Amino acid sequence: MYSTNMNDPVSIGLIGCGTIGRVHAASIAKAANCRVVSACDIEPSAVARVSEIVGDVVMTSEYRDVLADPGVTAVTVGLPNNLHASVTIEALRAGKHVFCEKPIATTFDDAVEMARVAKETGKRLVIGVVNRFADSVNQIKTIVARGDLGEVYQINIKFKAYRSIPGLGSWFTDKSRSGGGVMIDWGVHYLDLVFYILDTPTVRSVSGKGFGRLARDLSSYKFLDMWAGPPDFSGVCDVEEYASGVIRTDGPFINFEGAWAHNINERAAYVDFIGDKGGIRLQYGGGFTVYGQTEDFLYEMKPVKKDSDFYVNEFREFADSIAGGKPNRADIERVLPVQKVLSMFYESSDADREILA
Ligand SMILES: NC(=O)c1ccc[n+]([C@@H]2O[C@H](COP(=O)([O-])OP(=O)(O)OC[C@H]3O[C@@H](n4cnc5c(N)ncnc54)[C@H](O)[C@@H]3O)[C@@H](O)[C@H]2O)c1
Repeated sequence: MYSTNMNDPVSIGLIGCGTIGRVHAASIAKAANCRVVSACDIEPSAVARVSEIVGDVVMTSEYRDVLADPGVTAVTVGLPNNLHASVTIEALRAGKHVFCEKPIATTFDDAVEMARVAKETGKRLVIGVVNRFADSVNQIKTIVARGDLGEVYQINIKFKAYRSIPGLGSWFTDKSRSGGGVMIDWGVHYLDLVFYILDTPTVRSVSGKGFGRLARDLSSYKFLDMWAGPPDFSGVCDVEEYASGVIRTDGPFINFEGAWAHNINERAAYVDFIGDKGGIRLQYGGGFTVYGQTEDFLYEMKPVKKDSDFYVNEFREFADSIAGGKPNRADIERVLPVQKVLSMFYESSDADREILA
């Protein structure tokens, strides 16, 4: 279906060479079935840093150059969230397969349109929901499917930091460019891995609230350090730095609490899967503990092997799914239900009520 010579590495053009663009470059360099052939960013220094990782590639500041290059089979979209939809759609129409970073887009409607154009053009569109490629996540998926935890009736998701608003005043905190704050940036990863492990439960309703209280006045926000910084005091912060809520599904009841920043000095990054025969706590980006019982005792069990690199795994599968036309576990259709939950969360927060599916 996605004809290329299966023995040739898939040629990829990077669009966006910022933080994640550098990760894309390094990960593609480690995956034997694909290679970077061009790199694009409006910041020349960003392109230069990527070329230090991947060597001699075509460098440009204009993404349309990448789309017009017949030597490029696929592109990555590692741009601010508001550019995901337009650049992805243009790339698909230019005949490129696309690996687009999470979140799919800033709105559910844009995400649906991206999926439609992928179908219409017959090109692959994969989303950077990288946890689907983590060994721990896949091991938990197997354990849950096998029934080791019994009925999983409750999921608790925590993604909280103390003072960690990224790039204050940059696109991260500008709703018109990001689509939202901690929920669309961090929450999307946690929700996605839960939905993946549970085989996408049907959502019945979402009730949530986002708060943007600590940095509306940029200069009064106190922090210890700032990733994606430094602050740009000429910018805006009109997104939520704190989010909480519940999701009713036809499976487990899901509750979540997330904070880029809040007034408790505690960091939490985990997901609990609570079943009637056992439970699992997954440390985000790390290992997990299984809690269970035998006739004689309660036990706790931890895998000892470290996970393989999930970013490399996602690019291996991206290239395989292009060359061999095999399904990809991060195909856009599989990720759309998570984008729907995000949009229901923001609708619920704005309307101050539960949103029914
Ligand atoms: N999967 C993950 O683990 C992960 C991690 C970080 C970021 N992300 C996602 O990746 C995307 C980018 O995030 P980031 O942290 O790399 O941001 P970033 O600001 O570091 O990088 C974005 C880059 O896009 C460039 N850019 C902006 N407009 C452009 C245009 N029109 N043409 C070409 N280049 C342009 C900027 O100059 C910048 O270098 C976001 O959607 C984010 O959610 C995913």
